[in-house]
Amino acid sequence: MKGLILSGGSGRRLRPLTHTSAKQLVPIANKPILHYVVDDLVSAGVVDIAIVVGDTGDEVRASVGDGSRWGATITYVEQEAPLGLAHAVLIAGDFLGDDPFVMYLGDNMFEDSLDRVVDGFVGSGEAARLLLARVDDPGAFGVADLDDSGAIVGLVEKPVDPPSDLALVGVYLFDAAIHEAVRRIQPSTRGELEITDAIQWLLDDGATIDHRVLDGWWIDTGKKDPLLACNRLVLGRLAGDGVVVDDDAEVVDSTLVGPVVVAAGARIVDSTVGPAVAVGADCRIEGSTVDDSVLMAGSAVIGHRRVTASVLGHEAEVRGAGTVGAVEEIDLSVLLGDHSVVDVSGG
Ligand code: G1P
Repeated sequence: MKGLILSGGSGRRLRPLTHTSAKQLVPIANKPILHYVVDDLVSAGVVDIAIVVGDTGDEVRASVGDGSRWGATITYVEQEAPLGLAHAVLIAGDFLGDDPFVMYLGDNMFEDSLDRVVDGFVGSGEAARLLLARVDDPGAFGVADLDDSGAIVGLVEKPVDPPSDLALVGVYLFDAAIHEAVRRIQPSTRGELEITDAIQWLLDDGATIDHRVLDGWWIDTGKKDPLLACNRLVLGRLAGDGVVVDDDAEVVDSTLVGPVVVAAGARIVDSTVGPAVAVGADCRIEGSTVDDSVLMAGSAVIGHRRVTASVLGHEAEVRGAGTVGAVEEIDLSVLLGDHSVVDVSGG
């Protein structure tokens, strides 16, 4: 099977971070989400992979490269605008040929093994195999309508009145029949060629569409809170006390509460860090408490009593009142774009 990873899109829901960087490259436990996606495909034996890229293509190329690091071959396909998931299949047609493939959205992560999902698809006669997950807010996703026997009878994108709580996870298996479907559909009201509509077209055409319901967690990381939830879950897999500090990081007079990862070049002084914090390369934390947060490379928290549930972009900085104590500090929860500064020192 081939792999098709979608890494375009505008990242609207993670602005301002995504003004300067691709949402698929936001780090979870100090590794870009997109790298987990490649890991997952490769471990399921899928090594011939195309990545569909948009405006942030150069950054994605620089981060993932030619795939040799994974023993994979990666081809890049340019999408001139975010015109939809089915549009991505359309423009990747030459790469995909008539091979069955896994389509994987580059900002999705899920716990179950992809291996089990892929198992037995080739030769099954299924035109598509979908992954579904129970969610509290089905209206935010593509949603499946199932009959009494559990078979999918319909699919609808972002329904106002959802037919079930089973959302379409951003991982899909297709055979070559999808190519005609993506050519036959029309753009949706949001102006995109929806993969949901293409699969509905296959259903209407009498194709066999199977599905699996996920057991474990699934997260579409495109917003701050799900991103932090994903960071917590991935950090939670760390062995032992869950404290992993790079040899080239420095921790002085501080307490690390696992799970926490600290990357090379980071310096933590007089602080308490964790649980659930990923401290990126060259970050500085001084005289502060940080928990449940993602600190991207070069960011800093200086003299703030508590930073929590926050995502700091590259070289972003939070400055608190520190030892001066002139200002009564509040718990700070922020999403900061690259190079932003928040100064609550009152000075
Ligand atoms: C897309 C799909 C939707 C699916 C979701 C999964 O939504 O259109 O059907 O449930 O990914 O992450 P989007 O992220 O484009 O809003």
